[in-house]
Amino acid sequence: MVSKSYKAWLQYEKIETVGIRNAYIKQLGNIVLPAEISEFAPAIRELKVAIRAMLGIEPVVSERPSNPSYFRIAMASGEEVEQLGSEGYRIRASRVDAGTCLTLVGGGTSGLIYGVFHLLRLIGANEPVSELDICEKPVSQLRMLNQWDNADGSIERGYAGQSIFYRNGQISERLDRVRDYARLAASVGINGISINNVNVHKTETAFITPGLLPEVAKVADVLRAYGIRLYLSVNFAAPIQVGGLATADPLDAAVQAWWQETAKAIYDYIPDFGGFVVKADSEHRPGPFTYGRDHADGANMLADALAPFGGIVIWRCFVYNCMQDWRDRTTDRARAAYDHFTPLDGSFKDNVILQIKNGPMDFQVREPVSPLFGAMTKTNQMMEFQVTQEYTGQQRHLCYLVPQWKEALDFDTHAQGEGSYVKRVADGSLFGAKHSGFAAVSNIGDDDNWTGHTLAQANLYGYGRLIWNPELSAQQIADEWIRQTFGNDDQVINVISRMLMGSWQTYENYTAPLGVGWMVAPNHHYGPDVDGYEYSRWGTYHFADRDGIGVDRTTNTGTGYSAQYHAINAEVYGDAVKCPDELLLFFHHVPYTHRLQSGKTVIQHIYDTHFEGAEQADDLQKQWFALEGLIDSARYGHVRERLREQAQHAKQWRDIINTYFYRKSGIPDAQGRTIY
Ligand code: GCU
Repeated sequence: MVSKSYKAWLQYEKIETVGIRNAYIKQLGNIVLPAEISEFAPAIRELKVAIRAMLGIEPVVSERPSNPSYFRIAMASGEEVEQLGSEGYRIRASRVDAGTCLTLVGGGTSGLIYGVFHLLRLIGANEPVSELDICEKPVSQLRMLNQWDNADGSIERGYAGQSIFYRNGQISERLDRVRDYARLAASVGINGISINNVNVHKTETAFITPGLLPEVAKVADVLRAYGIRLYLSVNFAAPIQVGGLATADPLDAAVQAWWQETAKAIYDYIPDFGGFVVKADSEHRPGPFTYGRDHADGANMLADALAPFGGIVIWRCFVYNCMQDWRDRTTDRARAAYDHFTPLDGSFKDNVILQIKNGPMDFQVREPVSPLFGAMTKTNQMMEFQVTQEYTGQQRHLCYLVPQWKEALDFDTHAQGEGSYVKRVADGSLFGAKHSGFAAVSNIGDDDNWTGHTLAQANLYGYGRLIWNPELSAQQIADEWIRQTFGNDDQVINVISRMLMGSWQTYENYTAPLGVGWMVAPNHHYGPDVDGYEYSRWGTYHFADRDGIGVDRTTNTGTGYSAQYHAINAEVYGDAVKCPDELLLFFHHVPYTHRLQSGKTVIQHIYDTHFEGAEQADDLQKQWFALEGLIDSARYGHVRERLREQAQHAKQWRDIINTYFYRKSGIPDAQGRTIY
């Protein structure tokens, strides 16, 4: 028996209200399918599975209508081909003689899949379908998930068990779980998955060799059925490590030839191979710097190899000095990506995309948007989010991240005047990029519920939905997800929705304050350790002393990072009075007595938010208790346990942070609450 937690948002619960069910039966009981679309195509299979489960009938599939009302499925023809593109679809109801014809037209096989999932989502929410007139296509081109999975089965920053892709150093022989993942991913519009960690170790380096390509190709076959292309993270030193060459210099002819042959071999096995994801010269990974070359030299060499086959190179911008001396106050990690990449604007081949993390540091609970968005007008760029909750509670805490991502996407870079939103960089429209889109580090593993915390499924769902259309609201996405996952009971929807929507703020409240970041235990990054990274080599400091805290990133007295933004933003961030409270300590070093725009002092803000955050975490539990009996006991109990742990850990965060700052500053809490 497949559990409810395994089914995630594809529950397909039987519709119990007879009137509603009958209306759907009338409309969907007869599927009219042209000969060109196989009854066994994944889209049609999915539709039949769902109809059986939700409506309790076996739909009749025929080439001509056999009922007065029916559901017609077709591939686009004529003008619609271009209108919809291969990923778009149209769903429209129209009156016919004695009934209603509901038509789904897919621009291509992917469009058909997405259209089916859209319709099933509406049915799951018990929405009427007899008046539908929907035309959709994705706003962004590349909609990827990055697995940070290793061949040994472990997952870097994975919080939901072991990898579903690998077992004991090999690609898993049982790919049914990968198929189910592909279904989930396709249901929210994902069209690319890179299947191995960006830190490419020994075994994975050989994935691109003829010895292992047949295995990789099996995974590609599974993904392809759902409109998902396979990508691989590659090791820049592969020519040495698996090619037997003495160098990986991108300007060396033998190296170039090796990559070209390698690309050809890959496409022999995987004709629609997406391309390479590359982490180079970053955190000790090999790269072009070793040979005195730059990132463009490295990326372009790979791009040339892939170009004949239509492949792309996704080159990550997470490049900084990870061996910094904490005594060195002139180096600022936040500056690094911009400083490395903006001078290269315009020198990358057109099948290279730079993948940029949403913030300049590393997926903290709060960061400003990376200034690289908006800084390169002649270079393809894509956004990298982190769905896996490395710094946001590791799927032991509830933290619905869609509001955070939305904030990043709605940020106005002012690169081309007002309205130059990050979402317009990511969808390619702002600078007319050839390639663009999104990637995110996945949060799944082989836990029965995929994501460790059942409510963390909402982040995977939400990521896909948001990047399909960044205009959707976080609330709307939450609502969709809850209905499909837990049903349509109003109380369930209200409670879970409230919990999700407040959870990011709650997490921020009891962890690192005012944008300063870190304060987590080194290495595993779970739990509070205020000075854990303060004297380390990672460039992640808060500089708290007895008088104040924060990083001066202004132009006059600090690292100058604030000037990496366009004028309006640079001015706001560079001024401690104008800087938004939530980012104050990212940009400024201020006394504890500095007054925020909220009217509170920094120190009082720290105390207040930490007391409040711990209370809010406690309250999450109480809200959940109200759902006992309204949702299945297995998922109810599991989430209750997670929330209990979260409430406890939030107290730990509260007391450690408050105590630390009380001891540093000597300033008592104005409300006299207990600080140790
Ligand atoms: C973070 C994370 C690493 C990861 C790196 C990356 O630093 O902790 O595990 O490898 O990001 O994005 O490459």
